[in-house]
Amino acid sequence: MAFSNLAAPTDLKEGIQGYQPAPETVIAKEQFRDDKFGVFIHWGVYSMLARGEWVMNVEKIPYSEYSKLPGGFYPSKFDARQWVKQIKASGAKYITITSRHHDGFSMFDTKASDYDIIDATPFKRDVLKEIAAACHEEGLTLNFYYSLLDWGRDDYPRDPAIAHTEKEREMYAKYLDFMCAQITELLTNYGPIGCIWFDGDWAKIKKPEPGQEMVIDFDWGYERIYRLIHSLQPSCLVANNHHRIPIPGEDIQVFERDIPGENNAGYGRTSHVSTELALETCKTLNKSWGYDIKDDNWKSVPELIRILLSTAGRNANLLLNVGPQPDGCIPEESVKRLAEMGKWLSANGETIFGTRATMLKPQKWGVLTHKDNKIFLHVMELPEDGVITLPFTLKAKKVKDFANGAALKFKKTKKDFTVTLPEWADATVDYIIEITL
Ligand code: GLC
Repeated sequence: MAFSNLAAPTDLKEGIQGYQPAPETVIAKEQFRDDKFGVFIHWGVYSMLARGEWVMNVEKIPYSEYSKLPGGFYPSKFDARQWVKQIKASGAKYITITSRHHDGFSMFDTKASDYDIIDATPFKRDVLKEIAAACHEEGLTLNFYYSLLDWGRDDYPRDPAIAHTEKEREMYAKYLDFMCAQITELLTNYGPIGCIWFDGDWAKIKKPEPGQEMVIDFDWGYERIYRLIHSLQPSCLVANNHHRIPIPGEDIQVFERDIPGENNAGYGRTSHVSTELALETCKTLNKSWGYDIKDDNWKSVPELIRILLSTAGRNANLLLNVGPQPDGCIPEESVKRLAEMGKWLSANGETIFGTRATMLKPQKWGVLTHKDNKIFLHVMELPEDGVITLPFTLKAKKVKDFANGAALKFKKTKKDFTVTLPEWADATVDYIIEITL
């Protein structure tokens, strides 16, 4: 039967229809929400070219040449324990690392391909295994980024000319088997994994005409992929950076370079924010994901803390990226920033970790987080009248300055609750008020 020139499938039912997360998944999702802050690692053979992880594609480097890079990959200073310690010092509770990026190179020992760190590099060390062991020692959760898209494999249907043809289906069936084999390895050889974080779905999305709905005209086989993950490790969450409305079977909604709901980065095909799924924003420390030698657009520490506050204040996690160098070190500028974030979090983490932000949406003055009988007001802009007004009433036992413990003046009416800021309130980064109920 010929499938050529089939119209885009409009009735494509993606994912696991009627998905009901298993009890283990539900627990893991709450744990993920509690964790609030993770570190992303983009590392691959592209780091050797030092111009980001898209270098092969952007500079149109032929795959036949690019694929010689692994032959020289020897990150002599790589030390998984040191990485995990540096990351833990930031206060982060989890690490999400690229197991295989769009260039198709596997940074782990895979039997499904020879284009991997064991078979194709002189380094011959499974860095993911070493990182998994170090995470285990330090009590950090490990997550794997995994690219759906591949710039090199013969069976990945890249050519738009074969869209919706039998050829495309045949190729993809093989490629899907390959991905499932790798996902199985990732979920059987590295201990408990917190999440598989997919990327590249957008490669098959047609840009909608203005005013038109977006059309997905490719069947990624998510039902099979998601079922596989949930069956191998029910506590492993599924995230997919597809920039569209969540697909059943996913547990985390991802916002790339975007605060949930803001849709400013230009990737989001929707401003939809799920109330069911956990939320996560990923951001860079400078402008790049993979190591870029010329990128010195480092964000300041106050800016980073405010990003964390703005995600926590939207009930979302922050995944902050580092792009290690080809020698295996995390860039010094990144390490410094991670350490500074850690200092701030060791003093103020109680107002972030384990909290939720469902009582009040972000306000002009800042955001509210809450946990058990505590409410934290993170004031990032001092109101002119020096008064913070919550649009609901509260039975508060105590209201204090979180940093120095000084009691603050408050007043409740039937419909609202106000706190008067003291004259020393400084909102340059975050002035925190603690309310005890
Ligand atoms: C994008 C890029 C990719 C990067 C990812 C991180 O999808 O294609 O290079 O890994 O964003 O969010």
